[in-house]
Amino acid sequence: MRTAGLFAGIGGIELGLHAAGHETELFCEILPSAGAVLRSRWPGLPIHLDVTTLRSLPESVDLISAGFPCQDLSQAGTTAGLDGLRSGLVTEVFRLAKGCAGRRRNLLLENVPFMLQLKGGDAMRRVIAALEELKYRWAWRVVDTFGFGLPQRRERVYLVASAHFDPADVLLCDEAPLERPKTTISQRAHGFYWTEGRGGLGWAHDAVPTLKNGSTIGIASPPAVLLPDGRIIKPDIRDAERLQGLAENWTLPAEEVVRAGFRWSLVGNAVSVPVAAWLGRRLTEQGRYDTARDRSFPTEGKLPRAARYDGHTRHSVAIGSDPLGIAPPSLATFLRYPGEPLSVRATAGFLSRTRQAKLTFEPGFIEAVEKHLERVQGQAPDYSAEKRVA
Ligand SMILES: C[S@@+](CC[C@H](N)C(=O)[O-])C[C@H]1O[C@@H](n2cnc3c(N)ncnc32)[C@H](O)[C@@H]1O
Repeated sequence: MRTAGLFAGIGGIELGLHAAGHETELFCEILPSAGAVLRSRWPGLPIHLDVTTLRSLPESVDLISAGFPCQDLSQAGTTAGLDGLRSGLVTEVFRLAKGCAGRRRNLLLENVPFMLQLKGGDAMRRVIAALEELKYRWAWRVVDTFGFGLPQRRERVYLVASAHFDPADVLLCDEAPLERPKTTISQRAHGFYWTEGRGGLGWAHDAVPTLKNGSTIGIASPPAVLLPDGRIIKPDIRDAERLQGLAENWTLPAEEVVRAGFRWSLVGNAVSVPVAAWLGRRLTEQGRYDTARDRSFPTEGKLPRAARYDGHTRHSVAIGSDPLGIAPPSLATFLRYPGEPLSVRATAGFLSRTRQAKLTFEPGFIEAVEKHLERVQGQAPDYSAEKRVA
């Protein structure tokens, strides 16, 4: 297929689609740092800046891909839903889709699964109503990057819509459930958000939690990893890129425009490449949906994790979040770079938040953080004497 990558970010969707043989005709991306990455990785491909001023798509485009902004749909964001200024931009996708005819009417959307719960799934209900009005069939499914051989827990909802083929034959045919590791602290690495600790933790066994484009302290920041030997590190950005299926230093060109730390935000925003590659392969070679998976669709309230519309009826679909079930290597062996020890300040701040929390922590976790603090305090240069003299 020939695609238009709207809200293209650093091109996670497009990389996966390219790996499956599809080709991008046009990007649309407003952020200069993301644009710098796209320009450097796809030299010569046109990049339109603002989707609201994109009047139409080239005649040759037969797939619109759009991981539209999630800030108003995520738990950590404004929760304004589709009335929010940013997530509401999905209506631009529908406007552009209206201009496509016949076999060209195909869409791939991606966003956070919280949109299925927020306000009784209002945002997704509005998306599917708009698609049905445009005579699309659709299917959505929550899929976890972890089951694609990458030690990152990252659930995202993917939606395929088409006026031409049955999207259920793309999204809802493969299932290979993968057991999630449950291990003890001394045996495996564990990821968590050191910026949190009061209301939640993002605790992940033998994996990093979802890489994000922001954190509770307002800026994008890496998660922490407690290694089996007791060290707590912040992983290197190159490993973060690998955790999304990107090549190391994929986002380096962004440093022409922004400071290095912003790359965490770009990587946290991206679609994991192997997930997009699987979708790309299934777009080319469709399977056959088994209608025995159909269940009734809720007319109100929280939405199911997978669903479809066959042109007449909406159905919930009984299917899990692992299409391929590829077990990742252990996180400790996956990480190629030593990372940076979590600093005294960050560790102490995290510990003090956990002391105010009403959370239950994994046995041994808080002790391990305290030990790390002692260790980094021992290593930190001691300026106290100098300060006294001063
Ligand atoms: C969730 S990210 C998409 C990430 C992308 N799928 C990837 O794999 O890297 C949403 C993107 O929409 C872009 N965006 C926001 N408003 C936009 C607008 N008005 N026009 C074009 N792009 C916009 C943001 O800069 C951001 O990069």
